[in-house]
Amino acid sequence: MSEEEACEGRSRKKDAIMPTTRNCSTPTEQDTQQTPTYWSGSAINENKGMVDNLRRYGIITSIKVGEVMETIDRALFVPGGLQPYVDSPMPIGYNATISAPHMHATCLQLLEENLQPGMRALDVGSGTGYLTACFALMVGPQGRAIGVEHIPELVSFSIENIKKSAAAQPLKDGSLSVHGGDGREGWPEFAPYDAIHVGAAAPEIPQPLIDQLKPGGRMVIPVGNIFQDLKVVDKNSDGSISIRTESSVRYVPLTSREAQLRG
Ligand SMILES: C[S@@+](CC[C@H](N)C(=O)[O-])C[C@H]1O[C@@H](n2cnc3c(N)ncnc32)[C@H](O)[C@@H]1O
Repeated sequence: MSEEEACEGRSRKKDAIMPTTRNCSTPTEQDTQQTPTYWSGSAINENKGMVDNLRRYGIITSIKVGEVMETIDRALFVPGGLQPYVDSPMPIGYNATISAPHMHATCLQLLEENLQPGMRALDVGSGTGYLTACFALMVGPQGRAIGVEHIPELVSFSIENIKKSAAAQPLKDGSLSVHGGDGREGWPEFAPYDAIHVGAAAPEIPQPLIDQLKPGGRMVIPVGNIFQDLKVVDKNSDGSISIRTESSVRYVPLTSREAQLRG
């Protein structure tokens, strides 16, 4: 994987304090690309401090999103030895990353109306399980949060992470589940979904994901190769689709398992 693909973050944010541009670093690779973050360094050493920073920078404006991100401790999802509260993606192995806190917050905010109690959410490329856990708390015990991840080791890793977190109960009672599979096919078993989040960049929007979106549903998906946009896809009540661009972003690719592991 190129360093560019290993980085992830937003490169433009409207109506907020602008992020600083810094190198996206991993412990194993030399920094060569630039990606924006809102803060760096290790001064923040608790989850609440991270969430307060996201509020301060105007990324979190929703009370509910702030509460959920305070409840799900990001440190439980970031591999040991890394700084969990820095605003940066972190490597999780298998050429994948946990997304930066500002991207998790942005996607939760964009999907908030479609993550109301009782609703169904699909998290494609669920990785560490962090966002799937947040979705489970948003939709509550009457709703459903489904993660789909194509690296079996990450499926196991995410389940262990979730068990340690405030989303352990939804996992136990079945309102949260993580499945191994190719997320480009969605997860038809529990479709249609009110909310779909895709955590990796697709060259184009996969049709099965559009098909599995409920009328009134919303999908947030990074689209593109080197230059990527975070797209907000709304399915209208008549089944037609409206798409807008939220911001420029940089994510790892939504691809086959073989291609990802080849790097
Ligand atoms: C940037 S990571 C984000 C993970 C997650 N949102 C998080 O923050 O922990 C993207 C994830 O998508 C997964 N992925 C890529 N292509 C996939 C596919 N076709 N089907 C399922 N998962 C895929 C990767 O293995 C990786 O875990």
